[in-house]
Amino acid sequence: MIKKCLFPAAGYGTRFLPATKSMPKEMMPIVNKPLIEFGVDEALEAGMTGMCIVTGRGKHSLMDHFDLNYELEHQISGTAKEDKLKDIRSIMESASFTFIRQREMKGLGHAILTGKQLVGDEPFAVVLADDMCVKDGADDGVLAQMVALYNQFRCSIVAVEEVPDEETHKYGVIKGEMIKDDIFRVDDMVEKPEPGTAPSNMAIIGRYILTPDIFDILEETAPGKGGEIQITDALLQQAKSGCVLAYKFKGKRFDCGSVPGYIEATNFVYDNMYEE
Ligand code: UTP
Repeated sequence: MIKKCLFPAAGYGTRFLPATKSMPKEMMPIVNKPLIEFGVDEALEAGMTGMCIVTGRGKHSLMDHFDLNYELEHQISGTAKEDKLKDIRSIMESASFTFIRQREMKGLGHAILTGKQLVGDEPFAVVLADDMCVKDGADDGVLAQMVALYNQFRCSIVAVEEVPDEETHKYGVIKGEMIKDDIFRVDDMVEKPEPGTAPSNMAIIGRYILTPDIFDILEETAPGKGGEIQITDALLQQAKSGCVLAYKFKGKRFDCGSVPGYIEATNFVYDNMYEE
């Protein structure tokens, strides 16, 4: 059973400056709900109850969001507005939240390694909340689909999506053999390949299931592309010594770390999911 979900949320979110100067990117609202809450909903739906959040300086509002606000509770108690807190109250009752700080931003791999103290020695999920996923007609959320796959194969899994060739340089890209519909055994992975050199157009998005041996590998992983410790480098190591799968998920993903993706997600939620 996968019970814990790690949310690396320590990045600077420079693409959204100045909004992210004093506000975490993960707290940016899609209509009226912060990005991180969409990720937590997806993890809960997949059966996870331990939310482990890697934060950084100036990210207090992430902790406050999943805690009681007594003044507010008192103020709206018994009024019609109380209904607006229904969902977040239900989340707080269903899940536990633990936090750890990444003191230096040394990359996603380093952020995941920082979460080791919260995760312990068990398989876990990773959600990058700025990649927002919706079912869009699929039966289950992306994490729930990945958990079902993990229960079958018991190895690390990355979610992938086909992207246009001219966009591969923004992602980690995999190469692998298809072993079943939408499931690939990874044999190569490149972080942000130079234009024209990507091994495929299957891009890794912000959903992972990782087996705990990834932590030992990350300890030994040297800084890679951009001088950062890259999770792709550690996963490639894991793929060489064991097995890593890539899964072409069902559903829709929005790159909310970029302005166009954020606007697209906002419009989608307003049109399809928002209730007054
Ligand atoms: P990104 O590179 O997309 O996020 O990292 P960023 O650095 O916050 O955004 P930009 O590029 O400056 O606009 C992917 C994810 O990894 C986390 C980020 O918070 C984001 O969720 N991350 C990245 C960390 O937690 N620590 C790091 O050192 C780097």
